[in-house]
Amino acid sequence: MTGDSDFEMLIETGQTDRPRLPLSGRRIALGVTGSIAAYKAADLCSKLRQAGAEVEAIMTPAATQFITPLTFQSLTGHDVVVDMFTAHEAEAHVEVARRADALVIAPATADCIANLANGQTPDMVTLTALATEAPVVVAPAMDNQMWEHIATRTNVATLQGRGVVFAGPGEGRLASGRYGAGRLAEPADIVAALRQALGKRGGDFTGRRVVVSAGPTQEPVDPVRFVGNRSTGKMGLAIAEAARDRGAEVTLVAGPVSLPEQPGITRIDVTTVAEMLSALETATSTSDAIVMAAAPADFRPASAAGQKIKKEGGNQALEIQLVKNPDIIGTLPGGGVRVGFAAETHDLERYAVEKLAAKRLDMIVANDVTAAGSGFGTETNQVTIFHADGDVEAFPLMSKYEVGHAILDRVLSRIQTHQ
Ligand code: CTP
Repeated sequence: MTGDSDFEMLIETGQTDRPRLPLSGRRIALGVTGSIAAYKAADLCSKLRQAGAEVEAIMTPAATQFITPLTFQSLTGHDVVVDMFTAHEAEAHVEVARRADALVIAPATADCIANLANGQTPDMVTLTALATEAPVVVAPAMDNQMWEHIATRTNVATLQGRGVVFAGPGEGRLASGRYGAGRLAEPADIVAALRQALGKRGGDFTGRRVVVSAGPTQEPVDPVRFVGNRSTGKMGLAIAEAARDRGAEVTLVAGPVSLPEQPGITRIDVTTVAEMLSALETATSTSDAIVMAAAPADFRPASAAGQKIKKEGGNQALEIQLVKNPDIIGTLPGGGVRVGFAAETHDLERYAVEKLAAKRLDMIVANDVTAAGSGFGTETNQVTIFHADGDVEAFPLMSKYEVGHAILDRVLSRIQTHQ
């Protein structure tokens, strides 16, 4: 760090004790029932492990007709419980339920959902659901007629009324060859629903509203061209996910990005700075925090051509007059704790400190976008957080998700000291 401001003397190493992965330290019971979609549960199991979870699989006898327990034993490193009478633990029928932080049933058949709704326990999966106090996430898979049947609708409503979280089902081609609702949700979406459910159960942002902006903006030159930048929105999405995982109500205002929608995150898609400003004015009117991770275009064409600009006529140059866009965070009156970003290529500290004051921020997250592992499109970021009270924290290279948690830790302590 160079520079001669007062901040230099105060730099400390930013502390972060957040888990490295979204499900680190979590023990998840994965219930698999007898559906042709059971093979996708292997992918889900793998994704849960990749997200840091310890997984214990339980299967109904019908599920073993579609996929073997050995598959899940290999993926989890644990014995798979199928039969409550031959289980290796004396109290196996309730032990899995007791030690689980959450139960995910995927795929869940219509029969399984009916048993869950009625409190019946013909197998280890439904028994575990009855014996656990942990959140239960159900990912149904069945033919669309079974999903739409009044009996299933009633059972689903009953379970939702008890707080059971449903992930999917999706619509599309079903195993029967029909099209409709009943496809098992994508494993990534089931994991996201689980993360949200865990956050809602005692997450430290429960009851808080967090607004995050992400991605670039595109300012039209003509109907087919725009002025924009190379932001991908990954940093903003990672912050939104971290907030969702901690129980926050999250609104993500995103410029044009190719990132998928995330369960548990309300997304408002915008294109221009004017649209982003308007969406954020509404979203921040009741928020506890605004994290401005977007890279809005500083300038826009003074006017956009109504038709595609053509190169015919022999012109060797084209002049486009650009006018300044409003500074979004500088224009927003409040929003709660205000966090900005400063993506710099040089004089990081000087610019960050100037922006912190000019934009009335509580903290600014600065990074050198030319440094290895930082900047546009990377999975990691190395940031320094400058606080309005003069503290400066320099962090090591971390995943963008970990950076998100580090920011949220500081946002939360500000919320708590100012309420
Ligand atoms: N920002 C904003 N509205 C803009 C431009 C930027 O709200 N029209 C926000 C960004 O989301 C970020 C912070 O202001 O949180 C700093 O953005 P940055 O691009 O680093 O700084 P600028 O103010 O645009 O200044 P410069 O481009 O000259 O560095």
